[in-house]
Amino acid sequence: MFIASVLGKFTTSRIIVYHCFFKRKYSNSNQIFINGKSYEVDSWTNVTPKIISYIGKNLHLQKSHPLSLLRERITNFFYFHYKNNRGNPLFSVYDNLYPIVTVEQNFDNLLVPEDHVSRNKSDCYYLNSKYLLRGHSSAHENELIQSGLDNFLIFSDVYRRDQIDSSHYPVFHQVEGVRLFLRHELFSLNPDAEGSIDVFEKGVRTETKQEVHTYDAARVVEYSLKSSLTALVRHLFGQNAEVRWVDAYFPFTHPSFELEMKFNGEWMELLGCGVLEHQTLVKAGVEDKIGWAFGIGLERLAMILYNIPDIRLFWSTDPGFLNQFNVSDINTNVKYKPISIYPPCPNDISFWLPGNADEFSDNDFYDLVRTVAGDVVEQVNLVDKFYHPKKKLYSRTYRIVYRHMEKTLTQEEVNKVHRLVEEAAERSLEVKIR
Ligand code: DAH
Repeated sequence: MFIASVLGKFTTSRIIVYHCFFKRKYSNSNQIFINGKSYEVDSWTNVTPKIISYIGKNLHLQKSHPLSLLRERITNFFYFHYKNNRGNPLFSVYDNLYPIVTVEQNFDNLLVPEDHVSRNKSDCYYLNSKYLLRGHSSAHENELIQSGLDNFLIFSDVYRRDQIDSSHYPVFHQVEGVRLFLRHELFSLNPDAEGSIDVFEKGVRTETKQEVHTYDAARVVEYSLKSSLTALVRHLFGQNAEVRWVDAYFPFTHPSFELEMKFNGEWMELLGCGVLEHQTLVKAGVEDKIGWAFGIGLERLAMILYNIPDIRLFWSTDPGFLNQFNVSDINTNVKYKPISIYPPCPNDISFWLPGNADEFSDNDFYDLVRTVAGDVVEQVNLVDKFYHPKKKLYSRTYRIVYRHMEKTLTQEEVNKVHRLVEEAAERSLEVKIR
């Protein structure tokens, strides 16, 4: 029943946004309405109308979109490689789960500590203190495990406040994978081991295992995880892809790893993964299983796979972009060809902060730029900051690089947008332009 409610159909057209964004400045209303549901505005509210407008766009489900091609390729890999004893795919796929989740789903169920930075207002889009736009697809692990699933993939849009450049966008897409084993499933590769090796023990936590797991069980799960993901990466990038495993930390897995791949002579992080913390399974009502999970950013993968130079292109509706991915075979090795390159227009903005420097978050300014200027902004970088002791004021200078993806911008067009950014900053961040 729970699953049915989260899977409910969801359309953008029904989204009515009466309010949001900086309550004090933009509206007197104290409710946000999204898709027929209202959310009480409180001191945590920081989601913007611009960000809300991305809900339901589901690029990963759009025909011929590179993210959709990648979704199909990853799904096929799991369908073909993992079958149950009747020959049917072992993994089930969830690709349309509702993006508004509770703090419990996004953090608590995953054992994210109360004071962890990822919970900060400056990192997430909160509707209020209870609800936020999911920051990762791991937010759905608990409910799917609780519903009885052992093997599943989740494709979803995720929302994070971040810097602005060619590889960061506040909305991106992830695939999450989970695989759980009962003892006999884990040791089914080697039937002799079945009777003699335990999964659980009351032991100690070490670098390679949790206190509740036996060393043997932890190693078999780690092996299953690493071999599955290495095979996936080779399936996508070819048998010669050069990869390496790096130790990592995630609150909900132990041990945890990242997989890196050599790309243009440099190691690039492709994914995070690990052996699920037993406590996350207990929270989902499962006590007798052990398993692994992974999370992959789809844009990063697609940019490497298809030579896509700028993350904004994924949002392009230009046929010059989309038609290049209109292929009859999803495994076609598409290499994106830029139609042309248009010149960048950098413009600086300098202002005095209204109060102390630590009350000002760069991400507040980045969101404002996104809201006012949209996708003509390619990058925003902090280029200077200082304290003026006589005036007792803090200063910030950001360089905003404007660049349209489909045409050359005139200086006049840029000036107009830049002025709007200045005005909005004065109005809603209470800064003083210098
Ligand atoms: N949720 C993590 C993120 O967004 C990625 C991740 C790491 C997912 C490890 C996992 C995992 O399932 O086991 O950064």
